[in-house]
Amino acid sequence: MMNPIWQRLQEQANNMQQQKIADLLKEPKRVEQYSFAVGDIYLDYSKNFIDQNVMASLLALADSVELTHAIKRLIAGEKVNITEDRPALHTALRRDLNKPLLVNQQDVMQNIGAQFDKMATIVDKLHAKRWLGATGKPITDVVNIGIGGSDLGPLMAVEALKHYQQSAVKMHFASNIDPVVISDLLKELNSETTLFIISSKSFSTPETLTNAQVAKNWLIAALGQSIENHLLAVTASPEKAQGFGVHSDNILTFEPWVGGRYSIWSTIGLPLAISIGMTHFKDFLKGASAMDEHFANAELAQNMPVILALLGIWYINFWQASTLAVLPYINTLQYLPDYLQQLDMESNGKQVTIHNQQTPYTTGPIVWGQVGTNGQHAFYQLLHQGTHFIPVDFIVAANSNSSLTEQHQQLIANCFAQAQALMQGRDDTKFAHEHMPGNKPSNILLLKKMTPFVLGQLLALYEHKVYVQGIIWQINSFDQPGVELGKKLADRLYQSIKNHQFDEQIDVSTQALIEKCREMSQ
Ligand code: F6P
Repeated sequence: MMNPIWQRLQEQANNMQQQKIADLLKEPKRVEQYSFAVGDIYLDYSKNFIDQNVMASLLALADSVELTHAIKRLIAGEKVNITEDRPALHTALRRDLNKPLLVNQQDVMQNIGAQFDKMATIVDKLHAKRWLGATGKPITDVVNIGIGGSDLGPLMAVEALKHYQQSAVKMHFASNIDPVVISDLLKELNSETTLFIISSKSFSTPETLTNAQVAKNWLIAALGQSIENHLLAVTASPEKAQGFGVHSDNILTFEPWVGGRYSIWSTIGLPLAISIGMTHFKDFLKGASAMDEHFANAELAQNMPVILALLGIWYINFWQASTLAVLPYINTLQYLPDYLQQLDMESNGKQVTIHNQQTPYTTGPIVWGQVGTNGQHAFYQLLHQGTHFIPVDFIVAANSNSSLTEQHQQLIANCFAQAQALMQGRDDTKFAHEHMPGNKPSNILLLKKMTPFVLGQLLALYEHKVYVQGIIWQINSFDQPGVELGKKLADRLYQSIKNHQFDEQIDVSTQALIEKCREMSQ
């Protein structure tokens, strides 16, 4: 039977639909009530369809699934990833290294510390131009070859923190198996001064291994067999990296209980550490750790990840919102929507509960977005006057990394104006097509400034939000079995395309497409 709190929430949603957010905002102390800060992030969630009763019901929903206990289990390293029978301990990576944490009676902090030390040595050598290539020249370019969590975190964070760059070493990223990516990149690079980081938790992801093999062949063709100093690996499967030809001294590891999409805090963060240096990298970890502390200790009603999660549940399950737009008004957060897409959609794109039952409700939203103000001139029309109901997270910083203060004020004004326009709409128009219905909810995450600490806080905030939603939906947020089938089929179809042989398991449409490709490529 459906939890009675769900029924109550549905009734409350039906009643709320008659309300105007602009009227709700007239309540005394509304903003004080529905806003708070954690470290350098201030959340204003007053422009939502909520009141005290709705919040009380949402918090009761959280209590009904023993959320406080679930938070403790995550952070203590219990096996919350039940299908893979292991913890999801990304929080250990940013915790005080001197505080032991036992997993299977073993202190996991020691190896985390040892790997960070190894990472620091690599970073220092590169920064000091002491990491030399085969011909004795210092490395000038580093290419991260990885995909999914082994690409998006470093890519997003290196760009987000580009104003904190400490080194002249240029960072590049190759993820897609589309051959133009690696071949175009290699055209720009000098093999004598290029270092490749092969980032792969499993060290068996076809895209990554294919691109890595092209890079390795390119190095051998130019430098002969002595390419040891041109290859690094970051992986949870070090023996496979060695099998590929990476020297054991050049392999950084992390534990299998770090999920790919939660791995930016581990040695997978090496490209970021190279870019911003270890001191800033540690600040990034500290920001996440501050959010972990808050998540673990704040009461649910004042707990930022919990509040964001409950608002998401409110709209997804009771207002039929199927998407969430994340709109950063910080240009260097341009890859954040992509990063959050994997974090949220790979974690909560599930329809079977931890009790092996079909969920009777909708789960994870479609996450999408783009930086403002660019998005304003592309898809905001649909947000304002389209027929879909799309809650928005706006992200903006009070201070810029540029000294053009007035221009930054214009940026902030645009962000606040969009949130206001979505809420207020416009009914003073002459023609129906000009009418803007308004009443669209949004959160504003106001950051002090885009710093390593704040980025750490922000990413941990969304990680925990996703976990809370998974707990409420009773799904396992830490596996991704749905991506396996496509990988297997691609492997089989590659053999068919290459050898032009079909087996009866290939459907007729796909067979015809393979034929057409052959015809068109002749
Ligand atoms: O897309 C599936 C996935 O397993 C992601 O979860 C992961 O981040 C990505 O592939 C890359 O995996 P790996 O780091 O093992 O190469």
